[in-house]
Amino acid sequence: MPDLLRAHMSTTKKYAIKVWDISIRIFHWSLVAGIGFLWFSGEEGGNIMTWHVYIGCAMLGLIVYRIFWGIIGSPYARFSEFFKRPSHTFTYLKNILKGEKTDYLGHNPLGGWMVIILMILIFTQAFSGLFSSDDIFTEGPFYSLISSKTSELFTSIHHLNFNVLLAAIALHIGAVAYHVLIKKEALIKSMLTGEKQSPRPSRINTRPNYFFMLLSASVAATVVYLLISQA
Ligand code: HEM
Ligand code: HEM
Repeated sequence: MPDLLRAHMSTTKKYAIKVWDISIRIFHWSLVAGIGFLWFSGEEGGNIMTWHVYIGCAMLGLIVYRIFWGIIGSPYARFSEFFKRPSHTFTYLKNILKGEKTDYLGHNPLGGWMVIILMILIFTQAFSGLFSSDDIFTEGPFYSLISSKTSELFTSIHHLNFNVLLAAIALHIGAVAYHVLIKKEALIKSMLTGEKQSPRPSRINTRPNYFFMLLSASVAATVVYLLISQA
């Protein structure tokens, strides 16, 4: 093969790298479906609120899972991989504003911050729900542990924080749309298949440790079970 052709092929060849393991993808799309349902049921009220409480507890379980998986999970799922110092994030922001091309297989530094913010907001939402009440027939499992004044405070947090969460989700979807439509990166496909294309082969083994996956899932499932059994 002529050298020039070989050189061209080596620059255009892409390697499929498994960036998002199966649990990250299940975590992500369960969050999307769960929060959609919680929004609908929260606004609707009535009998469906029994399921609001159950699914709300499951969202807390997802966050517990993701915290464990952020510590002992597959390489690109780890907080240490995508949580970047503010100075690093500002440099990244300056570079993209200058139109420079930046390559990140996992979350880029801004995306990393977004993940943390979304997780804190979802945690706050679900945690405040545990102490909330609609003053008719739905209350969180820990409602009776606190005074009605404190419960009112948690219920207000549950209402207010949801608007902040919606704004963060809108920003997140906007950022994904920018990468997909303007930068032509197939991010949504990656969150479905787990794979991203890279000009270089992976230097690290991205295979998750399935024992740790099961361990994290068991802890999360136990938390959900204990919460629901109190509800
Ligand atoms: C309720 C709505 C949503 C929530 C709470 C949410 C939350 C998240 C979280 C927490 C992550 C980080 C995943 C991880 O590392 O564990 C993430 C990543 C991602 N989300 Fe969402 N998401 C939502 C909706 C969507 C929608 C509707 C789309 C697609 C249209 C989407 C596309 C993505 C993509 C592509 C990534 C990976 C970004 C990257 O490559 O860095 N998300 N999302
Ligand atoms: C990510 C998780 C959650 C989301 C997104 C969510 C969302 C919502 C929304 C949108 C409302 C309606 C607020 C309004 O009328 O303005 C609501 C109400 C409520 N939620 Fe949740 N919720 C979540 C978790 C939970 C959990 C875990 C519990 C209890 C275990 C819970 C208990 C309640 C209660 C009791 C209400 C009624 C409050 C009232 O009507 O004043 N929620 N939730």
